[in-house]
Amino acid sequence: MDMETITSKRLIMISGKGGVGRTTLAAAIAIAAAKNGKRVLLAEVGDNEGDESPLAHLFGKKNFTEIPAQLDQNLMACRLWAPQGHKLFLQHILPGGAILSAALRSKALQAFLTAAPSFCEMGWFYHLLTLIKEMNSDGQPRHQLIIIDMPATGHTLALTTLPKILIRLIRSGPIVDALSEGQRVIYDPDKSSSWVVTLPEKLPVSEALELLEGLHASNVPIGGIFLNRFPQNPFQPDEFDTINRIFNDHNIYGKLSFQRIIRSQEAEKRLLKEIDVPIIKVDELTRGGFELPAQIAQKFNPITGDV
Ligand SMILES: Nc1ncnc2c1ncn2[C@@H]1O[C@H](COP(=O)(O)OP(=O)(O)OP(=O)(O)O)[C@@H](O)[C@H]1O
Ligand SMILES: [Mg+2]
Repeated sequence: MDMETITSKRLIMISGKGGVGRTTLAAAIAIAAAKNGKRVLLAEVGDNEGDESPLAHLFGKKNFTEIPAQLDQNLMACRLWAPQGHKLFLQHILPGGAILSAALRSKALQAFLTAAPSFCEMGWFYHLLTLIKEMNSDGQPRHQLIIIDMPATGHTLALTTLPKILIRLIRSGPIVDALSEGQRVIYDPDKSSSWVVTLPEKLPVSEALELLEGLHASNVPIGGIFLNRFPQNPFQPDEFDTINRIFNDHNIYGKLSFQRIIRSQEAEKRLLKEIDVPIIKVDELTRGGFELPAQIAQKFNPITGDV
């Protein structure tokens, strides 16, 4: 699958277990798509105000705000922020001015709402919906493609199952209208896709398969899997077999790295056998930090699949 196809949606969600490379790949895809001329918004799901953001760090910033800011040509970034979503929602349903500011200031209302089921996810969801609907003066979407660096697995599924559960619970009214509108984007395979990032190791692959199942069950269209940090194999097949035999018999330097190559190949084989979704391998690169996403993005461009 090429990057053109991957980025042909309105929304891409990048999920996976902790530490697998979600943030790095979300940034890399955003950089690649922006270079290809798409107006991209890179978003992360924010939890606590003032938290430092690893995603923002990759772009030399401490954190992103709830208002999209320009990072580069064609590339904006923000955090999805529950209070911002709540505010936008109240603005939408309440007649403006005095009532609205009273409502927003009311501690009782805040306490009441915070106890409501999925309150936080609803805020993120509504904030996202507002960003999807933002238009330029020419009537074109302000953000052609929104890429979300999703939070840890539990939160991801809470967010993707939210519309289904709440609509069943509430049935009608403005919240349901907003959820249904969001559903029409996030459950539409032409508009949205969800990618799972995993490392090429046994346990992470098992966890990625579980997450994929959860996403599938929540009706989110699946893009595929990024098999990240795939170790490079510099050996020809005959060399590989010889070295494998030597390492099997002797505990010598390099054995661990060599076995990692074997485990990665096994992880790839397992994925190919057990699921029928695109798998994109991303090399383990030696350069870290700031330069990593741009380096991965460069390998995506022109994109043919593996990087
Ligand atoms: N392809 C790669 N090659 C080398 N290093 C990588 C690669 N992808 C990610 N890393 C490194 O792995 C570490 C974790 O990556 P990242 O922060 O993107 O993961 P994450 O899934 O967002 O983690 P978290 O759960 O903390 O949000 C970082 O130090 C990053 O530089
Ligand atoms: Mg991260």
